[in-house]
Amino acid sequence: MGYNTYIQLIQNLVRKKTEIISGTMGKEVERAQIAVNKAKEGKKVVMVSSGDPGVYGMAGIVLEVAAKDQNPIQVNIIPGVTAATAVSAILGAPLVSDFSVISLSDLLTPWEKIERRLEMAAQADVSIVLYNPRSQGRIEPLAKAYEIMTKHIKPDTPVGIVRQAGREGENYIITTLKNMLNEKIDMVTTIIVGNSATKVVSGKMVTARGYDLNR
Ligand SMILES: C[S@@+](CC[C@H](N)C(=O)[O-])C[C@H]1O[C@@H](n2cnc3c(N)ncnc32)[C@H](O)[C@@H]1O
Repeated sequence: MGYNTYIQLIQNLVRKKTEIISGTMGKEVERAQIAVNKAKEGKKVVMVSSGDPGVYGMAGIVLEVAAKDQNPIQVNIIPGVTAATAVSAILGAPLVSDFSVISLSDLLTPWEKIERRLEMAAQADVSIVLYNPRSQGRIEPLAKAYEIMTKHIKPDTPVGIVRQAGREGENYIITTLKNMLNEKIDMVTTIIVGNSATKVVSGKMVTARGYDLNR
């Protein structure tokens, strides 16, 4: 079971007789309920997320729906490589020090809360990973996030923008906070904004951890 795009991505791994139930975005609770019902019928059910199912994925809702039952089914969560670390590896090593992860989607989280988190992360001088930065219908949040970050973070701070990490069409660019909005950014993009110790070395984005290289 899973969101259409993810099911398509694993087509070649699915055995011929496997029953496939794919769905659209916004039907997560229904999908989790069907998965739990199928498991209760005795079927082995796999709920497919992208990256790590516990990072803005289906793990939470499946556990919540399963827990409503008097005799809860067993749920095993298999960890994956989340976009933050997949993207970090493409860019270099921007996350070797403390960092924060913030989704700009206000579908399930009130925007005021997202703004507050952004403000605090920007003030705390931690690298910031932005998930769900922009979709066709959601352009405003990234512009607002940019305004908040530029209040506290220097304009020449390195920013890495990666699209389609690990998938066909993967591409990335390392730019600066000042120029980040000039780049193509969509729903298959993850952005990493460095902290005050982040620099670009031989074309790679690296956050210095504090080691003395001259010893
Ligand atoms: C609903 S979240 C799912 C995150 C996923 N569970 C994970 O652990 O990576 C969707 C967001 O994750 C990021 N993302 C997921 N896959 C990506 C990829 N292949 N390349 C770049 N960003 C990706 C994008 O920011 C996208 O808007």
